[in-house]
Amino acid sequence: METPRLALAPLAEVTDAAFRAVAFAAGADAATTEMVSAAGLVRGSRNTPPLLERLPEEEGRPVSVQLYGHDPAELAEASRLVAGLGRFAAVDLNAGCPMRRIVENGDGAALMRDPALLGRCVEAMVRAAAPLPVTVKTRIGADPDHPAAAELARVCEAAGASLLAVHGRYASRVHAGPVDAPRIAEAVAAVRIPVLANGGIHSAAQALALLRETGAAGAMVGRGALGAPWLFTEIQAALAGRRAPPPPGPAERAVLAKRHLALSLALHRRLRERFPDAGGLDPEAAVVLDFRRHVFHYFHGLPGAAALRRRMGSAASLPDLLAAIDVAFPPAPGA
Ligand SMILES: Cc1cc2nc3c(=O)[nH]c(=O)nc-3n(C[C@H](O)[C@H](O)[C@H](O)COP(=O)(O)O)c2cc1C
Repeated sequence: METPRLALAPLAEVTDAAFRAVAFAAGADAATTEMVSAAGLVRGSRNTPPLLERLPEEEGRPVSVQLYGHDPAELAEASRLVAGLGRFAAVDLNAGCPMRRIVENGDGAALMRDPALLGRCVEAMVRAAAPLPVTVKTRIGADPDHPAAAELARVCEAAGASLLAVHGRYASRVHAGPVDAPRIAEAVAAVRIPVLANGGIHSAAQALALLRETGAAGAMVGRGALGAPWLFTEIQAALAGRRAPPPPGPAERAVLAKRHLALSLALHRRLRERFPDAGGLDPEAAVVLDFRRHVFHYFHGLPGAAALRRRMGSAASLPDLLAAIDVAFPPAPGA
């Protein structure tokens, strides 16, 4: 896998195939699925296969599957299953999720407290996933009393990981507060494998600054891309020393949001077709939920966003939702 200069971070319940297709079209070099339970995959949970679905719009673009777990044998078996699907570029290990239900189970950020186990997990995954590369997404440590960026990076490299993404916050801070670039730089300096710097990138200037301050091979963007896929276009332009196109105005944002909803609908229809017994929502209801959850971000801060949100209360169906967008953000003449 080529080292991405600019990657979309995994975001649970957000970075499905529709979101990834939008990010790729805007300029992301690589993306990761939402986190997938290794146990769920191995035991055939019906919730898992839908998370591994792709859309034709992402064709040929590198997507990694992120697994969470803590049992080397189970992670290895899950990695083997992912490799066998033949449609993913890498298997990634989640060694940073701080959510209680994950950590209490020994998964995610809990792996940072047991570097030896982390190493055994990565090693087992590397053997099982071959020839697919294994990558790790981690943080700078569990809490400020236990900075561990360099040690974790060394453990992952020694175990055979091909790339690391380091979120520059401690697990104890969840997703809030400043990003500690010097700690990410410690991970970069500790290993020869490429490191992606992650955290707090909401503009091209912030991406360039984080790359400069950390010496990382690439940047990984999470929440900054919510409802703002043009951030990838802006960062790629900045990386190439080009001037970026101006950010889209309200009518253009409505077009982008509707395009996202169309991809979302295509995905949910595909899921319904392929997994009729998975107990998923009706495709249109699922799209309305996606809109409430994250597509609404396209309108964040615009006059008219509050009115759209109010109308959303009564927009139960997809046609209602599209009509509400057209009322709040009328299409440009001739569009
Ligand atoms: C809603 C949400 C869901 C997330 N889901 C995942 C996940 O599934 N796997 C993971 O490694 N990190 C996950 N993260 C962490 C992000 O990938 C990223 O590291 C974090 O948001 C910091 O980057 P940012 O400041 O650019 O958003 C999630 C974060 C948020 C806010």
